[in-house]
Amino acid sequence: MSSQAPAARMTSVDIRARKGGAPIVALTAYSAPAAAIADPHVDLLLVGDSVGMVVHGYETTVPVSLELMVMHGRAVVRGARRALVVVDLPFGAYEESPAVAFRNAARVLKETGCSAVKLEGGRRLADTVRYLVDRGIPVMGHIGLTPQAINTLGGFRAQGRTEDQWDGLEADAMAISDAGAFAIVLEAIAEPLAARITGAVPVPTIGIGASAACDGQILVMEDMLGMTPRVPKFVRQFGRVGEAIDHAIADYAASVRDRSFPAGEHTYGMRPESKPQQ
Ligand code: KIV
Repeated sequence: MSSQAPAARMTSVDIRARKGGAPIVALTAYSAPAAAIADPHVDLLLVGDSVGMVVHGYETTVPVSLELMVMHGRAVVRGARRALVVVDLPFGAYEESPAVAFRNAARVLKETGCSAVKLEGGRRLADTVRYLVDRGIPVMGHIGLTPQAINTLGGFRAQGRTEDQWDGLEADAMAISDAGAFAIVLEAIAEPLAARITGAVPVPTIGIGASAACDGQILVMEDMLGMTPRVPKFVRQFGRVGEAIDHAIADYAASVRDRSFPAGEHTYGMRPESKPQQ
């Protein structure tokens, strides 16, 4: 038996305490093996509703269901040992009322074993965030480009690039933070506004396309690995995994076609005692 105690899992309180400290490293994950690979390197794993687009081929995150989030959430919690696992509440699971949000968020916590949920929206969701936090559910906020609102935003566009949008977005961040969110994702927000919001709120901001001014960063894992064909301007591809998969599959296909695979070492023979009689 190992004498080493398993590493303690990060909590929402640990993430909250990182405000202004060492940058928070966050990444999305949708499966147990991906979570297990990322876990030693990151502080937070988000089971993002981007899973609908990245894994299930939807055009937007709007069709994603609570059941889908629960299924992927469970897998990620099984794969991760140390990182805080946060699961997105999908579109339609929290907007109707704080009570509906509580019922769905409680289901996500119970059925996945995750430790927090994320929801999109600013001032209009502040009462809901407070309701959840008061009842024991840690909440991560998400403002700026909120993909679930694609139909009212009119497209995936960066926010806060004109000063007339600044006060509203800053008020959104303040409202969510005052309501008790432990961190706030800032998505596709112009750098000066991201810096202003980060300076104004007492909780960490986690940026995706919101500059180095944030307290941490998050990316969609498949985007940063180079597995998705088109990526937004704010993504740096840290790997070329898509290319590696393409080469490996082409090699496999060629090897099957020229019969060089499977070779002797991949093939079962008979046990010596049961060799057929000559
Ligand atoms: O769904 C998601 O992956 C997200 C991140 C982009 C923050 O919300």
